[in-house]
Amino acid sequence: MTNDASTPTLTAAPDHAAPTLDLPAGRRVELVVGPGGVGKTTVAAALALRAAVAGRRTVVVTIDPSRRLAQALGIDGSAAPGTLVAVHHAGATLDCLVLDTQHTFDAIVRAHSPSPQAAEAMLVNPIYRAMVRYLGGALEYAATAQVHMLAAAGQHDLIVLDTPPTANAIEFLEAPAQIAEVANNPAAKFLSQSGRFGMRFLGLGSGLMLKALEAVGGGAFIGDLGRFLRDFGQVLEEFQRRAGALAGMMTSPGTGVVLTTAATDFSVREALAFLSVLAERGLRIDGVVLNRFDAAVPPWPGDAVIAAALQGAPVGLDRVAELHGALLRQAASALRGAEALRGRWPTTPVCTVPRMDPPPTTLAELHALAMAVWPSVRR
Ligand SMILES: Nc1ncnc2c1ncn2[C@@H]1O[C@H](COP(=O)(O)OP(=O)(O)OP(=O)(O)O)[C@@H](O)[C@H]1O
Ligand SMILES: [Mg+2]
Repeated sequence: MTNDASTPTLTAAPDHAAPTLDLPAGRRVELVVGPGGVGKTTVAAALALRAAVAGRRTVVVTIDPSRRLAQALGIDGSAAPGTLVAVHHAGATLDCLVLDTQHTFDAIVRAHSPSPQAAEAMLVNPIYRAMVRYLGGALEYAATAQVHMLAAAGQHDLIVLDTPPTANAIEFLEAPAQIAEVANNPAAKFLSQSGRFGMRFLGLGSGLMLKALEAVGGGAFIGDLGRFLRDFGQVLEEFQRRAGALAGMMTSPGTGVVLTTAATDFSVREALAFLSVLAERGLRIDGVVLNRFDAAVPPWPGDAVIAAALQGAPVGLDRVAELHGALLRQAASALRGAEALRGRWPTTPVCTVPRMDPPPTTLAELHALAMAVWPSVRR
């Protein structure tokens, strides 16, 4: 047998070094970023709830929350797109909003069209709708634009943004500029003169976007696109102008980032790449949440003890030893991840959050998670 009572085991990893995170008093925007599926939506909701309970007027913008989390936050479908829903916990109120890309773009169109008629014409234009739907970066642009709008409305002290499952940080950070490029009005001339080549040059000529445009416009779609860009130039310029403001918001002292990652080799590698890009671009990293961290594995009590316990059970000693070995490997990977993050970013606090069963979805569970990560949040 591979395990016996004397086998060295990874028990209750001494995690005294695990610091907690701080939410600096001057933060008005907190971006929760990280690789896909690591717990960004969960951590964003927990942080927002924590700040609300600490007395900050807080709103969380979530993207595609799981059904159970959406239920807990009161955003499971009944609210109109773009509306704030208030939930209450421990005497505090937290505003929640589900990001709706189309709604966010439409709001910008309405606010910046020369007349309500011009706005309606643009909103129903098939080229506009295809752009919002298929253009790479539209979701990321909408997420930052939504935060910008909430900041301008001034009703909240803190806006927490759960970010889309973007493949890497660069994609997220460059989305505003990408949209701005498309919205750049002089392109209309270029497009109408250069046709398909121009489409490709502007990064529009591939995949779904091109198919969508062909579907809506038939053979004449490039000319249509040129006209579209000319007719709605004023609004498109606003998208472009706004992109500059969004990029500025990301690096302003009022904006911080919480990087969330899962405690696996793969996610930690992605997280390290994220951190480099964020730091290079001048974003303020307030800390790392190393989520679903299972470094504590009970020691092997000895073959004889296990064999006795398994009497009559449908699994054998080998299978239990195999599972225990897998847990040990997972624990070793979690510890390696924590070490790698702390080694590369010694001044950035890394806080571990254990894997919870059941996963944290109720307000009480989210608040408990956040209390362990942010025990003291100033008003
Ligand atoms: N500490 C935890 N313990 C157990 N389960 C967790 C924990 N944190 C998150 N989860 C679960 O992991 C799953 C993924 O979490 P979540 O949706 O928050 O990740 P995400 O990073 O937002 O994913 P995506 O990139 O797809 O948006 C969910 O089922 C969530 O309930
Ligand atoms: Mg998510």
